Order: sequence, then structure tokens, then C-alpha cells
Amino acid sequence: MNVFITGASSGIGRELAKQLIAAGHTVWGIARREKELKGLSSEIGSDAFLYSVCDTSDTSAVSRVLQEVKKKNFLPDAVVLNAAAFVIDCEPHYDNSVFEQVFKINVFGALSWVEAFIADFAARKAGQFIAVSSTSAFRPDWQRASYPASKAALSMAFRGLKLRYAGDNIFFKIMYFGPIATPMSIHVKRNEEGKMVAKGFYVGKTEGAARALIRLIESKRNVAYYPLFSTALFRILLFFPDSFFAVISKLLKKDR
Ligand SMILES: NC(=O)c1ccc[n+]([C@@H]2O[C@H](COP(=O)([O-])OP(=O)(O)OC[C@H]3O[C@@H](n4cnc5c(N)ncnc54)[C@H](OP(=O)(O)O)[C@@H]3O)[C@@H](O)[C@H]2O)c1
Repeated sequence: MNVFITGASSGIGRELAKQLIAAGHTVWGIARREKELKGLSSEIGSDAFLYSVCDTSDTSAVSRVLQEVKKKNFLPDAVVLNAAAFVIDCEPHYDNSVFEQVFKINVFGALSWVEAFIADFAARKAGQFIAVSSTSAFRPDWQRASYPASKAALSMAFRGLKLRYAGDNIFFKIMYFGPIATPMSIHVKRNEEGKMVAKGFYVGKTEGAARALIRLIESKRNVAYYPLFSTALFRILLFFPDSFFAVISKLLKKDR
């Protein structure tokens, strides 16, 4: 299988690339940090990993990568839209430019790959897109207005695209992650060098998150949740008001 992954330089995307290649698949990964991609390439040490430096919010960079991908005849079987920004936009006050940038990466940057590959998928009558979403799509964050809104927008767009392409053998799947121990997480404790030293019991491992994504790619399901415990609890608690949930979230935050 050929798999295209955005945000392959770190966290879940990086681990997903490693697991897919170990299972015999070919991966094309993109991210902005060349050093990290180069490091991953040497760690993997196989021609099955190809990569491009690309900011997914930059439409000309997306077009350039699409040309590179086509030149190498790499038509993906699955496209994992994993790259995302998770930044504070409400401190000291709401900043609209940050909100806009987060949407450019998390929503438009993700959907630009759908536009890039959809015609080839339709011609081949096969293919799948996986949106890496979050349980944040269901709840607001008191410091970040943009991140939950962007995940809700991406997930809803995928639900629409799923309906549109239902008869074309093209699948739009959504992975809802709860807290995962990656560089993005606020639910892990780090030492002065930034190394993770502790994580809450409800926080999933990066390896497990990548395995959950592979299971979703290989299954006929359209939606999956990981880790089971925290995402199930999260969904059960949805009937509580946002203000109550915000208090619980503040208590669980480890990067205070
Ligand atoms: N960790 C969690 O608790 C958690 C929970 C729910 C959902 N998720 C979702 O899981 C996905 C992966 O996150 P992660 O936890 O693995 O975080 P991470 O380690 O910070 O990885 C984020 C990846 O996105 C890439 N990226 C960010 N902006 C980009 C841009 N403009 N263009 C191209 N690539 C870009 C980063 O690469 P460069 O910096 O090199 O560009 C990096 O490879 C995200 O969609 C996130 O929202 C994570």
C-alpha cells in the first residue's frame, strides 16, 4: 500500500510512517522541518520512505509536492491528514491572525490534499482519506478558540465528503484522538530538556495511536476513537456544561 502522511516529522505521523514501513508499505511524508524528516529517513534506512519539505498551508508548496509525487508515479492508496497546529489564541486576548493561521493548516491545508488526489482516486475508483481529528472537535478550549473549531470543521467536511463519494469507492474516515503523549500534548510532564517524564493514566501512547490509525485504514469503519478509555469517558461527559468540563481539564493539565 502507498500511504501519504502530512505531519510525518514528529509524534503520531512519525510513528505511523515507521510502523507502516515495518509492515512492508511505502510512505511519502511531508512536514516543514527538513532536519526531522532527514533524521526519520536515516532512522528508517529504506527506499520505502520518501519525503518532501512542505508547509501544508502554502498552496504553491502543495502544488510543487503534488508534481514531485506524480513524477515518481506515487499514487497513494491512503492519505492521512495528520498535520496540525495547536496554539494559544486567546491570551492575553483573542488574536484573529492566529485563528486564521490555524485554519490554514488544520482545515484548508488538510483539504488541499483532498483536492490534490481526488481526481486520480475517482479515475481509479479507489482510495481513502483519513482526517486526524480530536475529541476537541466536541468541546471548546478556554485558551484556544481555533483548535477545537478547526477539528470540528475538518470532521464535518469529511462527513459531507463521505456522503458525496459514497458510490465511488472513495472513503472518508475520521480518527478522533483523545490525549496522546506527543510533543503537542499538554497532558504530559516534561523535564528541563523537554523530555517526557510522566503522563496521566488516561493519556495514550504514540505507538498505540499509530496502530489505531493503521486499524482504521485497514477496516471498513469510517470512524474510530483512541484511547478507548479517555475517549469513551469524554463522550459520556458530553452532557455536562462546557464550564464544568473546563474546570476538569484545568485540573488534568500537566504543563502548568
Ligand atoms: N497529541 C494529542 O494529544 C492529540 C490529541 C488529539 C488529536 N491529535 C492530533 O494528532 C495529530 C498529530 O499530532 P501530534 O500529537 O503527533 O503532534 P506533533 O508531534 O506536534 O506533530 C504535528 C505534526 O504536524 C506537522 N505540521 C504542523 N504544522 C504544519 C504545516 N504548516 N505544514 C506541514 N506540517 C505541519 C509537524 O511538522 P513540522 O513542525 O515539521 O512542520 C508535525 O510533524 C494532529 O492532527 C493533532 O491535532 C493529537
